[in-house]
Amino acid sequence: MDIASLLLDNPYVLAPLAGYTDLAFRLLCREQGAGLCFTEMISCHGLVYGQKNTKILLQSTADDRPLAIQLFGSNPEVMAEAAGLITRADGDFIDINMGCPVRKVVKKGAGAALMKEIKLAERIITQVVAHSLLPVSVKFRSGWNSEKIIAPEFAQMAENAGACAVTLHARTWSQAFGGCADWELIARVKDAVSIPVIGNGDILTYTDGRRMLSKTGCDGVMVGRGALGNPWVFSKAGRPVSLTARLPIILRHIELVTEYLQAEKMLFRIKNHVGRYLSGLPGASRLRQEFMACATVEELIRLLRREEKFT
Ligand SMILES: Cc1cc2nc3c(=O)[nH]c(=O)nc-3n(C[C@H](O)[C@H](O)[C@H](O)COP(=O)(O)O)c2cc1C
Repeated sequence: MDIASLLLDNPYVLAPLAGYTDLAFRLLCREQGAGLCFTEMISCHGLVYGQKNTKILLQSTADDRPLAIQLFGSNPEVMAEAAGLITRADGDFIDINMGCPVRKVVKKGAGAALMKEIKLAERIITQVVAHSLLPVSVKFRSGWNSEKIIAPEFAQMAENAGACAVTLHARTWSQAFGGCADWELIARVKDAVSIPVIGNGDILTYTDGRRMLSKTGCDGVMVGRGALGNPWVFSKAGRPVSLTARLPIILRHIELVTEYLQAEKMLFRIKNHVGRYLSGLPGASRLRQEFMACATVEELIRLLRREEKFT
């Protein structure tokens, strides 16, 4: 896949996932083959006001490339100002979130609400493109609900407004994260535009990704929930079946979290991920209860090593 002259060596992309796709997890997924990663969505207001918690979301390293920095907001001027603050040192391109279904985002006219306000969406893209030092892509959904499927027209609007690529999460706002993603719509979006199209929705395995690529003709495939507890999704071999075989990656994740996350967030964040790494293993629910009680990262590592001897 080639986005704004950025050649990706793997079409598998790590989705933006608020609360999960921090620097540590992105680096881990890259080590497992992810060709491109997105930051979680970053508030344009938070950036413009220089809020500390917002700026932390921009944390990155030279190994964390190629990187898309995702912004959300509904005010074209503030979005443009925020985009202008992001430089090559931060990432490779800016992505605009026009798909988030969460009530507190939609209530303010941002995220998926912009699919009901195409003119405003167009102004935001045009303004961001005009003020950004980096190329700009857009991530959106199928439409607001099943009666208003507008993804192909929306993609054309984004292309005409200057977007370098689009990502379609092929669900409507009203589906939120339930039901099935409509992969046929991804093919229709691919036919509607000449910029690269990243397909998204329901990729749980590497094979699912290959199927989406061949069924829809899209240029890249974005993995969201399927990557949680499963960074192996980015390579053909897939997730190992025993704790012993999964442990090196779990420990590597803990190492990266310890290196890059603020101390007060570390334990909570890693427990959240480790629970998912245990999925499908015998005794997973007992082990989950035990590690939730761990008070330190060291205790958690000891527990996993002890457990490994029995699996
Ligand atoms: C916990 C969680 C957080 C998410 N955060 C974001 C976000 O910050 N920005 C965004 O565009 N999408 C976000 N999404 C949506 C995902 O990027 C993706 O579009 C969606 O999960 C569908 O892909 P999947 O079926 O592979 O999970 C989030 C989804 C989940 C489950």
